[in-house]
Amino acid sequence: MNSYKIAFLNSKGGVGKSTLCILSALGLSQTRFNGKIKLIDTDSQKSSVSILNDINSKIELDYIPFNHASPNLGVSLLDQKLKAFTREEEIILIDTMAHPPRQLVNCIMQCNAILIPCNLSEIEIRATIEFVKTLDGLKKVRGGGSPHLVIMPNKVPANQLHIDQLTSALSDVDVIIGPTISDIAILKNDLVNVRSKITKLPQKFKNQYLGFRDFIYKALVKKEIDRLIQAQETEDSNSENVIPISKNI
Ligand SMILES: Nc1ncnc2c1ncn2[C@@H]1O[C@H](COP(=O)(O)OP(=O)(O)OP(=O)(O)O)[C@@H](O)[C@H]1O
Ligand SMILES: [Mg+2]
Repeated sequence: MNSYKIAFLNSKGGVGKSTLCILSALGLSQTRFNGKIKLIDTDSQKSSVSILNDINSKIELDYIPFNHASPNLGVSLLDQKLKAFTREEEIILIDTMAHPPRQLVNCIMQCNAILIPCNLSEIEIRATIEFVKTLDGLKKVRGGGSPHLVIMPNKVPANQLHIDQLTSALSDVDVIIGPTISDIAILKNDLVNVRSKITKLPQKFKNQYLGFRDFIYKALVKKEIDRLIQAQETEDSNSENVIPISKNI
């Protein structure tokens, strides 16, 4: 398969789906990947497409309008795009709306990875756990190890080091915890110039950006995470469900 598909999904709104989708597209365009990078925005707010339109980048932008009352048309269009054969290597990033219709979630299950941004409040953690359990149930019905379900702790206060709150709440769910993204003003106010502005931030945030980019490219697209999971499974079949990837890569 030449196409690697990543969806940004959470039933909750305002958690950072669009922000992390845009950041992934920009980050990937700075890696060695020289195939196509496509972003499909399925949210009528069009945040991702609109911001990336303002950046002169090589990211291919697409918008699929969704009508909540009859989502089937949008779903079948997205399904066609996700199943389209391609000779060229490509990465498809999909931004979604809050409260995604069930049909959209079902369609997204064909992706290689689902990134679930989550803020570290008790209410969001609880809501996200319920959502992840639903996704995990759908994954089991499909009978496979795909898609990877990855929680991305986002908007974490800049001085907060530990995310134990999240890891302990998720210990009985089959999920990966991705690298932490801090609450950073430029991610809120200047995504258009994020790539140049990030270099002027303190080292800690630069590293965070690079860590995020590496996670998307190396761990997911280049499948380091698959190798890690396989190695863990052969080593110890009772190994922990939660893999804090940032500690392993
Ligand atoms: N790491 C971050 N640091 C600072 N601000 C952030 C960060 N991530 C997201 N935000 C801000 O939080 C708000 C919500 O983010 P965003 O629009 O990406 O969420 P969303 O999940 O796509 O929302 P929606 O459900 O409405 O589509 C925005 O104002 C965004 O700028
Ligand atoms: Mg959004």
